[in-house]
Amino acid sequence: MRIDIITVLPELLRSPFEASILKRAIEKGLVEVHFHNLRDYTDTKYRNVDDYQFGGGAGMVLMIEPIDKCITDLKAQRHYDEIIYMTPDGETLNQKMSNQLSMIDNMIILCGHYKGVDQRVRDAFITKEISIGDYVLSGGELGAAVLCDSIIRLIPGVLNDETSALTDTFQDGLLAPPVYTRPAEYKGMNVPDILLSGNFGKIEEWRESKAYERTEKLRPDLLQ
Ligand code: ADE
Repeated sequence: MRIDIITVLPELLRSPFEASILKRAIEKGLVEVHFHNLRDYTDTKYRNVDDYQFGGGAGMVLMIEPIDKCITDLKAQRHYDEIIYMTPDGETLNQKMSNQLSMIDNMIILCGHYKGVDQRVRDAFITKEISIGDYVLSGGELGAAVLCDSIIRLIPGVLNDETSALTDTFQDGLLAPPVYTRPAEYKGMNVPDILLSGNFGKIEEWRESKAYERTEKLRPDLLQ
């Protein structure tokens, strides 16, 4: 998979890709992530990428020209399956979307800033608009990092234990069951006996019932 991220703040985005699972995925060659600074696609003296909005109103808007130049440049080099725009008024990200996006080859992610981008960018180039939740961030960069993390960990070979992404919360529409590790007893708090029994059939049954119980209590909406 190849991900091209267009941003005015590449420095805000680098660190999530320089540690842990994302770093390893890049080192293993399972994903390539490229950052493109929008300011490199403008020839104005001050390299400005935004301007006042027509009709008046507070807040600057990212201009179409540098974005057009950057996207056109990338599209001339390869086919992109999705060109995603990170925006609070996009479709809310969920596990199903991450699963689908983890199966594509090439994607561009455009990070919004200020009041957003000129609507003509959205009309002409964008194939999918994604929000990471009903709150407004200062820009799309942190949302893009969340999106990339949720996608990259699903690419086969990225996680060491192949089954571990499949048993994540949300993967089967339920929250994950509780987990425990050593010691089996800590200050009078005990790990449920069933988990120490070695009876894997019963353990699986227990996990399913706990996942259901937890979902019913914390996220009954998922069961509807
Ligand atoms: N940009 C600003 N707010 C955002 C959000 N909630 N999700 C994605 N991108 C954003």
